[in-house]
Amino acid sequence: MTWPLYHPFICGAPEPGLAMNDNSSIPYVIKRMTLADVPAVVAIEKMVFPLPWSRHAFEHEVQHNPMAHFMVLRLRDTAVARQESHTHPWIEVAGTAPGGPSRHPLLGYGGFWLGIDEAHICTVAVHPDCRGRGLGELLLVHLIDHATEVNAAVVTLEVRASNLVAQKLYGKYGFLRVGRRKGYYLDNGEDAIMMIASRISSAAFQGQLQELKASLWQKLAVQSHRTRRV
Ligand SMILES: CC(C)(COP(=O)(O)OP(=O)(O)OC[C@H]1O[C@@H](n2cnc3c(N)ncnc32)[C@H](O)[C@@H]1OP(=O)(O)O)[C@@H](O)C(=O)NCCC(=O)NCCS
Repeated sequence: MTWPLYHPFICGAPEPGLAMNDNSSIPYVIKRMTLADVPAVVAIEKMVFPLPWSRHAFEHEVQHNPMAHFMVLRLRDTAVARQESHTHPWIEVAGTAPGGPSRHPLLGYGGFWLGIDEAHICTVAVHPDCRGRGLGELLLVHLIDHATEVNAAVVTLEVRASNLVAQKLYGKYGFLRVGRRKGYYLDNGEDAIMMIASRISSAAFQGQLQELKASLWQKLAVQSHRTRRV
């Protein structure tokens, strides 16, 4: 798939509490996951994970778990969604998705459970057709930013030992390997690598984060500029 290389460079207001900080000119939006998002989330989940969470599991997180902070990443532009939906039916177009009057393509999602001072990332995924464009990074940045906003001191996660792509992403954002859970994954008995980003509010961590974000926004903006010349 050629993911939208021709979409306009769109500006929009960030949602309170999920501030886009200095990236208000990128053509993506991240919002809290709602019940209406769940079918599209589950569709990606099934494509991406060997042990996918069920629709019921996501509905529970969204509706009943006060510790759950789940977000979805969407393309902002409905016109692009309409064009893309002709060839890519997974894209939701305004007015056609169940449960929501105005929908935009759902490109990815992520979430964490908040403990006392720990945000435990339990899922992050980008639609397979949209990889390698900085969207996984964008989701991770928002999870870290949101964890900071809700006063988490550390962010933790588990990742499959074979999932080197995700480990590289987490490593880029300062996550360190702190342990291994033997045979953690039930489908193939694979080990989980435990990773942690500590002291996320510290000046040192935030300084690194700002640098990485600046370069991510530039990457996303370059994509948009390339788009405009097409
Ligand atoms: C992991 C995942 C979210 C990354 O999303 P993505 O949008 O493709 O990644 P991005 O384009 O944002 O890349 C960000 C970083 O990830 C790493 N990365 C991404 N693709 C990579 C690849 N093919 N090879 C190695 N590293 C890669 C790099 O560190 C990259 O930074 P860089 O561009 O400076 O090198 C995505 O691959 C995915 O959904 N995988 C399936 C679900 C999953 O494994 N989730 C994690 C569970 S713990």
